[in-house]
Amino acid sequence: MQRFDRSSHCGKVTEQLLGQDVSVAGWVHRRRDHGGLIFVDLRDRSGLLQVVFNPDFSNDAHAFAHALRSEFVIWAKGKVVRRSTETINKDMATGSLELQVEQLKILSKSKTPPFAIDELSSQVDEELRLKYRYIDLRREEMQQRIALRNKVIFLMREFLHHDGFYDIETPVLTKNTPEGAREFIVPSRISHGSFYALPQSPQIYKQLLMAGGMEKYYQVARCFRDEDLRADRQPEFTQLDMEMSFVEEGDIQDMIERMFVHLYKHLYNQDLQIPLPRMTYDEAFTKYGSDKPDLRFGIDIRDCTAWFTGTELKFIKAVLDKNGKVGALHIPENSYKFSRSELVNWVDKAMELGAKGLVWMRLTDDGKLESPIGNFLSDDFVSQMKKTFPELQNGSVVFLIAGKYTEAWTLLGRLRLRLAKELNLIPADSGFHLSWVTDFPLFDHDEETGGWTSTHHPFTSPQANWENQTPGEMKARAYDLICNGVELGGGSIRIYDADVQSRVFDLLGISKEDAQKRFGFLLESQLYGFPPLGGIALGLDRLVMLLSGANSIREVIAFPKTARGYDPLMDSPTTVTSEQLLEYGLATVKKPVNK
Ligand code: AMO
Repeated sequence: MQRFDRSSHCGKVTEQLLGQDVSVAGWVHRRRDHGGLIFVDLRDRSGLLQVVFNPDFSNDAHAFAHALRSEFVIWAKGKVVRRSTETINKDMATGSLELQVEQLKILSKSKTPPFAIDELSSQVDEELRLKYRYIDLRREEMQQRIALRNKVIFLMREFLHHDGFYDIETPVLTKNTPEGAREFIVPSRISHGSFYALPQSPQIYKQLLMAGGMEKYYQVARCFRDEDLRADRQPEFTQLDMEMSFVEEGDIQDMIERMFVHLYKHLYNQDLQIPLPRMTYDEAFTKYGSDKPDLRFGIDIRDCTAWFTGTELKFIKAVLDKNGKVGALHIPENSYKFSRSELVNWVDKAMELGAKGLVWMRLTDDGKLESPIGNFLSDDFVSQMKKTFPELQNGSVVFLIAGKYTEAWTLLGRLRLRLAKELNLIPADSGFHLSWVTDFPLFDHDEETGGWTSTHHPFTSPQANWENQTPGEMKARAYDLICNGVELGGGSIRIYDADVQSRVFDLLGISKEDAQKRFGFLLESQLYGFPPLGGIALGLDRLVMLLSGANSIREVIAFPKTARGYDPLMDSPTTVTSEQLLEYGLATVKKPVNK
């Protein structure tokens, strides 16, 4: 058997190998030609090692080394020696050592790369990075992110395996799975006019696995959603997907918390405190204007509608007449000192976020109220404010938005995040704030159709007493895991009774025939002994993004798509030939131009 002669990795060469013959292989990271001596920083996955070509040790290797350029792949063999004191590099793990090369082989040459391997990501055009992703992946930052991703997946698998979960694959060529996004579809060659759908998640299959007696399932599952892309959304992404039989909310949450304890222990050698904080959806929305509150900073929304009882201010009166509300955010004087022009600019910023307007108020250093609507406010207004904000001090600022409750609070939630970002209110060392949001509404009202849509998905179990409630009042047995304002995961206790499932389809406006056509197999499975069940899925890309400090999930996926869903490396999506179309019984039509 022939084996590649590589006795060490570059970054693993230590003092213990001093004086020994070592063979290494890797990429030429940097090359310095000092005439008599040629120095190369050789790079492999483990790090860098300085290799030296000196004619005194090998004339051949030295002569050969003149040809070396960045990103050539080479093999070198020689003796490990200590560097002279003045050439020690403290920034390099192997910085006190070097390899005196006696033999060199060039395994492959490289053209000048499109960007330098040690250039910062932010300095290279992202599309260029993705076109040459195999070069981009060589950069230290990317190597670390992919290594972290590997470790996180390994630790999760390790935990789940020991907790009794089975790793089970589910089909990728499948049928509609209602998770709220548009689907990718795949034409069938054998049955013209029929299409598979790529799964938005393995939701229905994992429920059927519970019907199949598997009890505890997990999968590192690829999911596909044809939705508008953002920094934390890709058309193709990975979930750590889980399902359990004979469980309630607390069992799933406890399992996830224990998994995070395992992650923290092995990633940071820290003991994560569990149980994690829990907050209901209503509380999250009332305090933070969001169902995924960022809890790394303290500002919360307070209701100040009562400040304006009997007001003469037309725009606020109009809101109150329609049962609207006024909400406020308070920025203490010791967090940020606004100039007057900054306060005025925040009105424009709030409007960029979608607000119709923003009112600011400031207590001056001598306790007087300063505000564009100051003339309309009563003498005891400041004492009213202090009832709502007992912490109000001279110099503090309050921002107000008036409107329909959900709209005003959503805008205040966005404003809260923008204020935090621009005023640097999030402490740099605030770490990860994990928490649960629970008791979601079962349905969202669709303003356009006047009907109801599932807040999570239609298999989510309603909370007790739902039979006596209107759809708008019904709550779901659903929970989301939130970290630093990002929805890391979501799950629920599922319906396992065919009657309840049919009634939920009914409320969603899915007719009996339609329900039968789309989910008949599920309704049928519920007639053959179905265990109570629940589960959750974590967005793996989002988790690794947060853990690595990256600002987009594209940074933690080996081959992501651009924000426009394009893969510059493969140049996909792409057209197909008319022969291929024919084979699938397809014809393409031009998108009609909107008049
Ligand atoms: P949900 O739709 O909430 O739940 O998805 C679970 C988690 O997956 C991540 N995620 C995404 N990540 C990247 N790009 C996307 N386009 C994207 N969409 C979602 C998020 C999200 O919290 N079947 C249910 C789970 C269940 O009920 O068990 C589901 O898919 O982090």
